[in-house]
Amino acid sequence: MEKICVIGLGYIGLPTAALLANKGYDVHGVDVVESTVETINRGEIHIVEPELDTFVQAAVKSEKLKAALTPVEADIFIIAVPTPFHEGYVPNIDYVVSATKAIAPYLKENNIVILESTSPVGTTHKVEEVLKEEGIDTSKVYIAHCPERVLPGQIMRELVENDRIVGGTTPEATQKTVEFYKTFVDGEVLSTDAKTAEMAKLTENSFRDTNIAFANELSILCDKFGIDVWELISLTNRHPRVNVLQPGAGVGGHCIAVDPWFIVHAGGEDAKMIRTAREVNTYKTEWAIEKVKNAALSFEKEHQRKAIVACMGLAFKPNIDDLRESPALYITRQLRADNLDILAVEPNIESFSEFDIVDYNNAVNQADVIVFLVGHKEFSSLEINKNKIVIDFCGIIK
Ligand SMILES: NC(=O)c1ccc[n+]([C@@H]2O[C@H](COP(=O)([O-])OP(=O)(O)OC[C@H]3O[C@@H](n4cnc5c(N)ncnc54)[C@H](O)[C@@H]3O)[C@@H](O)[C@H]2O)c1
Repeated sequence: MEKICVIGLGYIGLPTAALLANKGYDVHGVDVVESTVETINRGEIHIVEPELDTFVQAAVKSEKLKAALTPVEADIFIIAVPTPFHEGYVPNIDYVVSATKAIAPYLKENNIVILESTSPVGTTHKVEEVLKEEGIDTSKVYIAHCPERVLPGQIMRELVENDRIVGGTTPEATQKTVEFYKTFVDGEVLSTDAKTAEMAKLTENSFRDTNIAFANELSILCDKFGIDVWELISLTNRHPRVNVLQPGAGVGGHCIAVDPWFIVHAGGEDAKMIRTAREVNTYKTEWAIEKVKNAALSFEKEHQRKAIVACMGLAFKPNIDDLRESPALYITRQLRADNLDILAVEPNIESFSEFDIVDYNNAVNQADVIVFLVGHKEFSSLEINKNKIVIDFCGIIK
């Protein structure tokens, strides 16, 4: 098993392809975006991820990694395409289906097809169904799910070190796929069936979402009761079996804010807590907007002029530039739409089409109301004049 075809060369597919190529596999990467293919074939990268450039450059130079717009015959096919949702939080597996159709003409007996995309329960069996429809005798190929659980910023390390879950549509598919992952993963490679593997990944993200919802609800209650939620959580976490997570301005990113909906959509009325957690986290963002608007209004009443509001951070979590599903960005947009005079601050981004990005020191000096939306490291040592109104949703000014 030496030739690998990776479909989708984004945050997951490209690091995986580059790692495998550096491990000696002959890797053919496929993406539908021409500029992505061209960039990779120059030995360069189109996404921000530490160390990835070194891996891609070495892989392309040694001719172990080539990118193209179409697949080729291979021993193993890895699908790492997006799995977003349609309107109304309905899971969208269209990319998985089209990637499956694209590899069908190149499949041969004994090939392994691995779905790495985070997928609603049943998607791996859907891949099998699509292959059958494309005329493949699926009893002669191995199909499995192996969800990815890497942390952006540490992908190259975690691809090797993390434990992996492999679930095949048959026990033989599981076993063959486990053998493959063991060739490059130092963590444990655990076996199960396809549906359990799919649900395991969704469970991981729903667990995080639910626990953050608990912290977010506490933050709203503490505000009502006049209690400092950060002190409260640090005290309760001194209990040997309690570990409350930290609240924030909501929950963002393209995983935790998205994947629980895959369970809710399929689970309906039975997915009560997971749905409620999503709703609590979304509500926290709306609650935050009201809180800022009220502070700006109080300032205006007292000073007979509009408040300048500094929105500190736009990314979906600290110390990154990723704006996907970001509550901070949503809040900033909403405040501007509601006619507030805002200063948008994001130290990890130089410029942004929607807002002029203001330096964080300047923003703190100019603003009347300073709203901490993301706990970026730059904000923790800011000196803030006592006359300013400070609203801290992320505990950076604890
Ligand atoms: N990024 C993460 O941190 C992370 C972590 C765990 C799991 N995941 C999951 O991995 C999957 C991929 O996520 P990502 O972050 O790599 O997405 P991404 O958007 O960065 O990359 C996906 C790539 O697939 C390409 N593509 C789309 N349709 C294609 C097709 N039919 N054929 C070939 N290429 C196609 C796109 O052009 C894009 O380059 C998703 O299911 C995601 O939920 C992501």
